[in-house]
Amino acid sequence: MIDQELDDFTFVLFGAESDLARRKLIPSLYQLARWKQLPEKYRIIGVARSELDHQGFRSYARKCIEEHSFGGGESVTEPQLEAFCASLYYIQADFTEPEGYVSLEKEIHNNSHRNALCSNLLFYLSIPPIFAPVVIDNLEKAGLGGKNASCNGWRKIVVEKPFGFDLESARSLNAVVGRVFHEEQIYRIDHYLGKEPVQNILVFRFSNGMFEPLWNRQYIDNVSITIAEDFGVRTRGAYYEKSGVLRDIIQNHGLQLLAAIAMEPPVDLSAEAVRDEKEKVFRSLRPLTKDNVREFVLLGQYDGYRDEVDVAPDSTVETYAAIRWFVDNWRWKGVPFSMKAGKNLAERVTEIVLTFKCPPQNFFGPPESCSYTANQIIIQIQPEETIAIRFGSKRPGKELITDPVYMKFDSRISFVNEHMTPYQRLLLDAMAGDQMNFIRQDTVETSWKVIDALRDALKDEAPEIYPVHSRGPELR
Ligand code: BG6
Repeated sequence: MIDQELDDFTFVLFGAESDLARRKLIPSLYQLARWKQLPEKYRIIGVARSELDHQGFRSYARKCIEEHSFGGGESVTEPQLEAFCASLYYIQADFTEPEGYVSLEKEIHNNSHRNALCSNLLFYLSIPPIFAPVVIDNLEKAGLGGKNASCNGWRKIVVEKPFGFDLESARSLNAVVGRVFHEEQIYRIDHYLGKEPVQNILVFRFSNGMFEPLWNRQYIDNVSITIAEDFGVRTRGAYYEKSGVLRDIIQNHGLQLLAAIAMEPPVDLSAEAVRDEKEKVFRSLRPLTKDNVREFVLLGQYDGYRDEVDVAPDSTVETYAAIRWFVDNWRWKGVPFSMKAGKNLAERVTEIVLTFKCPPQNFFGPPESCSYTANQIIIQIQPEETIAIRFGSKRPGKELITDPVYMKFDSRISFVNEHMTPYQRLLLDAMAGDQMNFIRQDTVETSWKVIDALRDALKDEAPEIYPVHSRGPELR
């Protein structure tokens, strides 16, 4: 873990009682405090509707931490928890009413706190997206907007996914947040970018001389990206009815994984340089339109989805998508990127496989040995955090027969005790002001443009029903 100096600051958590805050954000902040990753002085102000006082919020946070604490395999210890809870405060507010923001502003500027605590502010919106514009407007009215900041303090805002539900809504949310905060103060979160193996793709590709020369259309036959879950929509039927897997997973996690694999080397490691290269990938994606969509996209719905709570009995929302993308640029022209994402599939796995072209001649049996042993780089994001290289090896015995074998790196074996969760990592990045793993305005819009075109081209198609715990329908 890298220790970095952070400025003293106040963290304002809108939606302090949300599921995300309860399960991930509050426990993550606590872990960061225990690992001494937070600055010497910090305050966390929870904002939510419930009638709580500071003490009530501290008890609530303690419960969240006890129930959901994770990271490093260590257990909750009393003095550390006590110290963390002492930095928690609470403001009761209806997000749509200005009064709460007046109390928030007073609490932030409470004279008993040191100056930097009041001038460095990080707002975290863990709230339903529909409330984001009103919260941002009210922050501005209370003088707490990013553009209101005085020159000796910083302000940042972290906005949770989903960032809009199509291009138009994303543009209007960008306009609202962009009116009150500068782009360099805006952190649009996609928690996949906080996953260690996802961050490692950049390092794997650009810190090793042996892979990058092969990382292109001359050597790679195809790329496949799988984001499979072995459970259904659970209690999120209402959300899924409005989202479907295209908006829930493909537009963000799926395309971000694709961009990490397909991007060119950045000119340096600045957030802008890395994000420029990702944006170029999004802009190179071959548009999926009415003319080609049937060839390249297949949507599915798991059997029984229509019986889930808050789901329409005749719903045509997709819970599965198989898409063949093409990145039409010099590096990748002609290489299919097959992406599969879905709920209630056979297993929970997120994995990227790069399959290399076969050698020009197949000397060894069996006859199908090329596809059987074709070289692959297999990057497993979860449940394991591994990178495996598949190659052909002689099966011991008299004959020259090839079998596939694997060399495997397992991050949890090679790096014991170094693991942070995605939210811990991304929270630290936001506090430190590193935007590399947050989505930039143009990319949010480009990705919605791609998804909107795809959805529009498929708007009259009903998804194919697939059995629960199957592999999902295959794109032919
Ligand atoms: C969320 C989606 O963004 O990601 C969920 O809304 C999905 O539907 C989840 O289950 C998957 O995240 P992870 O980290 O468990 O792969």
